[in-house]
Amino acid sequence: MIIDWIDIPKVKNPKGNIAILEGDTLPFEVRRVYYLYDVPSGARRGGHAHKTLQQVLIAVSGSFDVVLKNGKTTQRITLNRPDKGLIISHNTWRELENFSSGAVCLVLASEPYDETEYIRSYKEFLKFIS
Ligand code: TYD
Repeated sequence: MIIDWIDIPKVKNPKGNIAILEGDTLPFEVRRVYYLYDVPSGARRGGHAHKTLQQVLIAVSGSFDVVLKNGKTTQRITLNRPDKGLIISHNTWRELENFSSGAVCLVLASEPYDETEYIRSYKEFLKFIS
């Protein structure tokens, strides 16, 4: 499994930086934006895959770990840079953990929310991708 990143273009300034997501920077058209915040230390999020949805995760503040599984390999990545986006394609199991205090995980998604499109059992996930 290859970890796929977006280098988010930015305008740097001693008075503060701007990171810009527009046009072809993203691999899909964004149809939903949400963010995780106030995550208590020790909490684990995710624990599911999507049948068709693609996402980009950005640690706009603080840091957290993402564990990705494709049924064959497992990879752990720490997200801690607001100018890097982690692309998670469909058919990928993800778990988010080790949130730092004040961490904010911005999620750009290719589709509106649809619970029927989630796979929430790892056993079902393995069956789905086989
Ligand atoms: P979930 O995607 O399971 O959160 P995480 O992967 O971060 O642990 O969503 C948690 C709950 O929030 C679940 O009941 C569905 C709801 N939800 C929405 O209603 N709309 C959304 O866009 C999202 C992402 C979640």
